[in-house]
Amino acid sequence: MKGIILAGGAGTRLYPLTKVTSKQLLPVYDKPMIYYPLSVLMLAGIREILIISTPSDTPRFKELLGDGEEFGVKLSYKVQPSPDGLAQAFVLGKEFLGGAAGAMILGDNIFYGNGLKELLFKAVADAENGRATVFGYRVSDPERFGVVAFDKNGVATSIEEKPKNPKSDYAVTGLYFYPAGVSEIAETIPLSDRKEYEITTLNEIYLKRGLLDVQLLKSGFTWLDMGTTDSLVEAAEFVRTIEKRQNAVLFAPETIGYSNGWTDEKRLLSAAENYGNSSYGKFLRAFAEGKVF
Ligand code: DAU
Repeated sequence: MKGIILAGGAGTRLYPLTKVTSKQLLPVYDKPMIYYPLSVLMLAGIREILIISTPSDTPRFKELLGDGEEFGVKLSYKVQPSPDGLAQAFVLGKEFLGGAAGAMILGDNIFYGNGLKELLFKAVADAENGRATVFGYRVSDPERFGVVAFDKNGVATSIEEKPKNPKSDYAVTGLYFYPAGVSEIAETIPLSDRKEYEITTLNEIYLKRGLLDVQLLKSGFTWLDMGTTDSLVEAAEFVRTIEKRQNAVLFAPETIGYSNGWTDEKRLLSAAENYGNSSYGKFLRAFAEGKVF
């Protein structure tokens, strides 16, 4: 199983914040936004990860994250020349996937909740056995998202992109797991009316083939996408609240890599050193010394 983080797009909804930098590099409390989706893929046990971004921003992601050695993962990079749609990630990532099953997470999504790891492990195992998984989350404004509807037995019946009259309150979140062969299917998708290769079209194909599972994220679970200034502040406040409460830094790829057995104490301490005197660096040091966990 390999993973893709899609971290491109024009970011115009956040102008002037994103005039000279990528949205997914903006701070979300104590770390850049991309640390959050990277942490989710690593929690899923995914070690080979492709980061896709714009021609101007891709070098900045490389500068920030390097080859992933600090986290115990292997990172590679690919440019998306223009923001032609989410499904294009699998076309751009065809060589990277090399016929493997593939997950994708949007670079502006945060997932947090009890049992996340188990949900992720199940989605990985199912993708490796030929079934796709997306996650549904109840929202008050479903018309802003991909929306999944269900029959009375809870079986998904339709997925629509930003419907004017949503058939349910369940948004499809920005985390997707597909079996081997996803790139070949993504290549067949036509441009939508808004001139994008839609991830919803890809999901509809798996749904029609009876190969799509929709896992609902229960209440108590948090899913945030950080597409607006308000949601950016909300996300930062959320992270600050839980980190202060737990006296910990969450979504730190270095600690996840260490806990997964992909790095050792020496690497963790050298990562801590690189972060200098920041609270993030101090936490990594304490984590390596077993003082916090
Ligand atoms: O957040 C979940 C939603 O994401 C889903 O419910 C929708 O089905 C899906 O289409 C998508 O909707 P958005 O309106 O959030 O898509 P947006 O165009 O804002 O793109 C999402 C992120 O992906 C954003 O951070 C920019 C990035 N992006 C977008 C496009 C179209 C790219 O990197 N490349 C692209 O080509």
